[in-house]
Amino acid sequence: MAHRIGIIGGDGIGPEVVAEAMKVLDAAGVEYTPVAFDLGGARYLRDGEVLPDADLEAIRGCDAVMLGAVGTPDVPPGVIERGLLLRLRFELDLYANVRPFVAGSSALNDGVDMIVVRENTEGTYAGEGGFLRKGTPREVATQGSVNTRFGVERCVRHAFELAQARERNHVTLVHKTNVLTFAGDLWERTFGIVATEFPRTGTAYHHVDAACIYLVQDPGRYDVIVTDNLFGDILTDLGGAISGGIGRAASANLNPDRSGPSLFEPVHGSAPDIAGTGKADPRAAITSAVMMLDFLGETEAAQRVRDAVANSEDMTGTTSELGDAIAERVQA
Ligand code: IPM
Ligand code: MN
Repeated sequence: MAHRIGIIGGDGIGPEVVAEAMKVLDAAGVEYTPVAFDLGGARYLRDGEVLPDADLEAIRGCDAVMLGAVGTPDVPPGVIERGLLLRLRFELDLYANVRPFVAGSSALNDGVDMIVVRENTEGTYAGEGGFLRKGTPREVATQGSVNTRFGVERCVRHAFELAQARERNHVTLVHKTNVLTFAGDLWERTFGIVATEFPRTGTAYHHVDAACIYLVQDPGRYDVIVTDNLFGDILTDLGGAISGGIGRAASANLNPDRSGPSLFEPVHGSAPDIAGTGKADPRAAITSAVMMLDFLGETEAAQRVRDAVANSEDMTGTTSELGDAIAERVQA
């Protein structure tokens, strides 16, 4: 049966790279019904809507969602990011943000072959906090971090399950237990308990600052990393940079329980500075579409697209030229 795929191009280069990902899905012969959503900065500027309930309900009715990137300099920071992307992550309970990195030809270090599992519904992203005496010299701003045993455990378990299916079968917890002693303690204890369910999986713990050094100097030591929302955000931009460019880094925002659609998007942002220039690399979006195909059970099509992207390693061209070339290889 044809999959219902929600399509949110979003802002900046988002719609450009998503168009190439859909082109490649067409070439792979995947049967799907596209359901386009006009969401993002342009919609907000036009009618003040970020994510109307009707759109959210229609998104819930999809089997998966492909998203480009959101955020535009015309709108204050956070309005679209929090109101659209983070709201979707929370409402759809996309608790595991899975971001794989494999060294490309321009990688800083060819030892990169890892997956970061980023907790995606809690932490500092939960939005706890507020202002006191805003705008006065005695202003106070607090920004809390929400960590629940339930939320941490399900994310950590997902990381172990992914590791189990990999040859190296190893999970590193990354946190900052020496300073964030409350949240860090909960993460460390939960990690230790879940680890007992996976006796064959190797484990390690690294502080996040040290992990930044290792990622640059010795990334080969990582197989699966599990970490909180904010550390995961930062580490995965670094992951993109060390493995050959953020234009190649894909991600899956998964609801592994499948109580609703999962959402697939490149790690990169909307890059308004290069929007419309044809400079955006569509491969992060195309690889995100591969993750979507895998999650939808379209393993054969996923493999064909994955191979085509792997063979495009040294290809250059505009956004649509790269999309065309990969689509051609998928068809061949
Ligand atoms: C990401 C992005 C988002 C995040 C922004 C756009 C809210 O940077 O997916 O990594 O911080 O999670
Ligand atoms: Mn990010």
